[in-house]
Amino acid sequence: MKILVFAKICLAWNFLHITDIHWDPLYTDSNLANDYCHSSLFDNHYKGVKPYFGKIGSECDSPTPLVNSTFSFIAGLNQSIKAVFLTGDLARHDRDSSIPRTSGEISDQIKTVINQISGSTNALLLPTIGNWDTYQIGYTFQRDYSRLFDIWKVLWSETQQGQIFPTFMAGGYYSLDVKSVTVLSVNTIDWFIDNKVLGDCHSNFEMSSHPGDIQFKWLHDTLASLKANNKSAVLIGHTYKSEPLYKSKCLATFTNIIGSFSNLIISQYYGHVNLDVTYLVTKKDKYEIIPLRKQELLKSTKIKNIVGQFFTGPSIIPFSNPSFRLGTIKGHKLVKHVQYYADLDELNNNHKDGLPIASDQFYSPTCDTSEAYQLKSLDPKWWKVFLDTVHDQIEQYGYSAFLDTYRACEHSQKIPPEENEKSKLVFSADTLWAIIIVTSIIFLACVVVTYEYGRNLENQSYSPIPESPED
Ligand SMILES: *[C@@H]1O[C@H](CO)[C@@H](O)[C@H](O)[C@H]1NC(C)=O
Ligand SMILES: *[C@@H]1O[C@H](CO)[C@@H](O)[C@H](O)[C@H]1NC(C)=O
Ligand SMILES: *[C@@H]1O[C@H](CO)[C@@H](O)[C@H](O)[C@H]1NC(C)=O
Repeated sequence: MKILVFAKICLAWNFLHITDIHWDPLYTDSNLANDYCHSSLFDNHYKGVKPYFGKIGSECDSPTPLVNSTFSFIAGLNQSIKAVFLTGDLARHDRDSSIPRTSGEISDQIKTVINQISGSTNALLLPTIGNWDTYQIGYTFQRDYSRLFDIWKVLWSETQQGQIFPTFMAGGYYSLDVKSVTVLSVNTIDWFIDNKVLGDCHSNFEMSSHPGDIQFKWLHDTLASLKANNKSAVLIGHTYKSEPLYKSKCLATFTNIIGSFSNLIISQYYGHVNLDVTYLVTKKDKYEIIPLRKQELLKSTKIKNIVGQFFTGPSIIPFSNPSFRLGTIKGHKLVKHVQYYADLDELNNNHKDGLPIASDQFYSPTCDTSEAYQLKSLDPKWWKVFLDTVHDQIEQYGYSAFLDTYRACEHSQKIPPEENEKSKLVFSADTLWAIIIVTSIIFLACVVVTYEYGRNLENQSYSPIPESPED
């Protein structure tokens, strides 16, 4: 028993944070594709190589070859992974009005992705609800919970299902133990600014029947009981951003709860924004959540009283290069992050040239926080050391290469293009012929119909034209 407790506290273990897969089975890399990489009559005239593995910085979702290669890579990762935090949005966007998403399609996409992930790893999978994983975009409802539970339950043992079921069916959130920590999967959609069904939270969550406040009560009580048992927590959810993505009172309560339990929350992971951003939780008169951003990094070096940290993840959908993160936890400490990214330009080029792409080379590791930032661990103390170092470096060398490292990590090694290449509507030769033929047929049909109509009229006797009632 003693040895078991010791092992729990002292052995390091790895997890993955994967977010915003947005698998689109309708994706095509054909030139006859629209802005969403769906089939179209119009020729899009890609300037470069066909985007077989995805089109960076576009409105297009993730093609099947990208999703498959991602899971093949994960299956071949030589690291032992104990948990996967899957922070939402597995299904495709509903952006293309020419092919609206159907409800059955959403289930199918979520189910396919879930089955693929669980086939690629023995790790415990912990999903959260994304705003595109629901029946109606931007809000969750009872039927979402039962549908998602039915799809997700293959990921868990019967005991785990029993533990997750009551709170998930009540509000789309749950907690589960993984190794040395308890993971709390929160339903951010209840606090989400785009949620048109729910209003803002109450200023006192304990007095309120707003679903978001009921969830806050669960969050507060769960953290309080973990604290009483000397346990640590990791929070995972879908949306977070510094320009608030939560309604204002919901945000205030959220900030206050995670602030006041920050000494046991070792880290938090969110998706939605498709960017790797670090947030520091600070305490002055009240708690605050401050992003570390390149353009504010010098200002950020003045951040004081750091009590906590959390992160949004780079996405699989090619906003920048597809990317996910591997983290290491030892006991009650977050040791480090390593980012894995796929160089889409190179991969698409290799595919064009018919070069073989080894599944274990699809992604490359980079931005190891213990090397790139020299952080011995990821916690408030080391962030302070990091900020002091950045401050000194800027004083000494001006805006140095250090910031470029930071920026490159934030964007998965690929800064999105300043201006997305505008797709021009140009007809290809084939489309032009199709249009000429179709137009000719319609024209001929019209001639025939008009002729027949004229002959009919001639054969009819005249009837008086009815008077218009307005006159
Ligand atoms: C992707 O993987 C699925 C499931 O393993 C398989 O059925 C499908 O044929 C694969 N598609 C491609 C394009 O590799
Ligand atoms: C929690 O830790 C404190 C101090 O280390 C100790 O006194 C207390 O007994 C522990 N509580 C539990 C439930 O293990
Ligand atoms: C995992 O290990 C095998 C055998 O040593 C190696 O061939 C493969 O490239 C490794 N995979 C990754 C992703 O590094």
